[in-house]
Amino acid sequence: MKTRHLIDLDSLSLSEIGDILHMAEAIAKKPSYYSDSCHGMLMATAFYEPSTRTQMSFQAAMLRLGGKVIGFDSPDGTSVSKGESLKDTVRVLSGYADIITIRHPLEGAAKAASMYSAAPVINAGDGGHLHPTQTLTDIFTLLREKGTLENLTIGLCGDLKHGRTVHSLIKAISRYKGNRFVLISTPELALPAYLKAVITENGLEYEEKDSLADALSMIDVLYMTRIQRERFAGHEDYEKQKGIFILDTEKLYNAKYGLKILHPLPRVDEIEDEVDDDPRAVYFIQAEYGMYARMALILHMLDGETKHIDPRPEGDGERVCSNPKCVTGAETYLPKLFRRKGGKFICEYCDKMK
Ligand code: CP
Repeated sequence: MKTRHLIDLDSLSLSEIGDILHMAEAIAKKPSYYSDSCHGMLMATAFYEPSTRTQMSFQAAMLRLGGKVIGFDSPDGTSVSKGESLKDTVRVLSGYADIITIRHPLEGAAKAASMYSAAPVINAGDGGHLHPTQTLTDIFTLLREKGTLENLTIGLCGDLKHGRTVHSLIKAISRYKGNRFVLISTPELALPAYLKAVITENGLEYEEKDSLADALSMIDVLYMTRIQRERFAGHEDYEKQKGIFILDTEKLYNAKYGLKILHPLPRVDEIEDEVDDDPRAVYFIQAEYGMYARMALILHMLDGETKHIDPRPEGDGERVCSNPKCVTGAETYLPKLFRRKGGKFICEYCDKMK
């Protein structure tokens, strides 16, 4: 049996996602009922990048399930600062813990870690690539707040280029029927082409807009995101992009009564504080829902799991990924893995086309 890692929500069938959401609902209704479910289990949280919600909601989730937690919230205090490789760190952690959550600035780092871990690895965000447990949080929020994951017009606004939560959400919600996307960004921060292709390959439609006010009257869900300062090459580029899309109560006059406003948080300036009191704003309860979703995910991943390292696939001897943010650039021992699509090669770690 293969070790059950969660790198991308794509690895779960819709039926498995449905089971996790169902479990999250049961936990949210009666968390105390599950307070011994992970008794004797240990989670390691390996955070190479800052986090408030993801790290602490995973910790809270494991503790509320009766398990224990070890980990680091910055590589500075660990042997990574002495030059230890990702594979060695993860291999050691997987000897200590029953499950590992990892956040890393490089794209594909969670997949790389999973190849050297005997314990299940959960991707808690890998650079600008993916953030599947935020997506689980987001779709659980949609289910609770809209009652459905189908036939929704979803506006995504802000940094659609670097926003890993946007990327994971689009991949997941495109698997459900009848959804439409309104992509609200500047041309510089538009959604990457491979994700637009995901939408159309699923038979769904999207339109691109450069005005949040214009988009608001047509959408059922607004997913606001911050401009991801840490992903820009230079400060000047970030300065040009910040403060362009700001949601305030005046813009909401045109919005639907049943609109739900989500945000993965943290916010910077893209939602005015005055919006927090609007009943359509659900971003703080969304963060709480994330803890229940993660409790359900931990139970799903530890169910019947036995520890072992799966055999690693053979790499491509010559081809290298051209993405400077791909983990294969820094962790050079990794086998180079590509899949073919329409005559192009796509890196299996970061999903960028060569
Ligand atoms: N939404 C989210 O990933 O928040 P943190 O960066 O605080 O974990």
